[in-house]
Amino acid sequence: MPNSGGGLVREARPALEWVVKGAVQSFQGRLMAESDKVFAGSIPKFYDTLMVPLIFEAYAADLAELVAAVSPGSVLETAAGSGVVTRALAPKLSADACYVVTDLNQPMLDYAATRQGSDSRIEWRQADALDLPFEDTSFDVVCCQFGAMFFSNRIAGYAEARRVLRPGGRFVFSVWDRIEENAFADDVTNAVAAVFPHDPPRFLARTPHGYHDIALIREELSRAGFADIEIETREKVSRAPSARDAATAYCQGTPLRNEIEARDASLLQLATDRATEAIASRHGEGPVAGKIQAHVIVAAG
Ligand SMILES: C[S@@+](CC[C@H](N)C(=O)[O-])C[C@H]1O[C@@H](n2cnc3c(N)ncnc32)[C@H](O)[C@@H]1O
Repeated sequence: MPNSGGGLVREARPALEWVVKGAVQSFQGRLMAESDKVFAGSIPKFYDTLMVPLIFEAYAADLAELVAAVSPGSVLETAAGSGVVTRALAPKLSADACYVVTDLNQPMLDYAATRQGSDSRIEWRQADALDLPFEDTSFDVVCCQFGAMFFSNRIAGYAEARRVLRPGGRFVFSVWDRIEENAFADDVTNAVAAVFPHDPPRFLARTPHGYHDIALIREELSRAGFADIEIETREKVSRAPSARDAATAYCQGTPLRNEIEARDASLLQLATDRATEAIASRHGEGPVAGKIQAHVIVAAG
């Protein structure tokens, strides 16, 4: 896999810089609202039926390929959400493989399990990726699609992934690139901001699109103990039957909904309407297509 970020990491850093970075990260962790990681209520259904086909499915197919390529006997998936990676990966694993699928939010896992059908190789388990309930050196691969941005302490999350990996194992995960590289997310954020001009909901920019600095990702993986790190930036196209489908996905199928409702629940529909208009004005009436971009990372050692 081409390495797109190798030159960005400097060899030596003054101690003060580490202290400042640590303080900034802990401040950012506090800035991530508690509601950012709440995927419950009606979110799992909207997430799975609208968000997943819009932006997650294509990357899930890639992640499943990457994991299956090493023919793992045991796989741990963290932050599995409504199971889009699980559905892509399970058919590619061997008949005797063990696949443990976890997420912080039980409602997401419940939804994932209903979509998966019976598979004796899969164990569903609620788990925080920052505090995994598994023995050291238990898995050949740990995978995590678009979950790391939600970790309040990513170095701890990466160290946990490394702890449960067998020697030679791989941590395969992905994060979104900056919001400006992700057309619909950017349109929706700007449109919803206009509904709440004094207190704009910033969930999409702050959390899903808030962890895209390749140098920082490398640095945090290194600090967690990983020695071999490959990062590839992948651009894809996101498609929806209409601007309204795309807007509804973001406004009602993600924790952006929590943020809007916390300000004024009666404005959820208006916010969705404004986001619809914004997407339609840039991408047209009828079926819409917009750029999406993410970093795909394989860490080992
Ligand atoms: C954007 S979703 C991604 C879900 C899925 N991997 C996918 O690609 O559709 C982020 C997921 O991270 C989960 N999550 C947030 N914080 C977590 C944590 N500390 N440990 C495990 N999962 C977490 C949420 O419950 C949510 O399901």
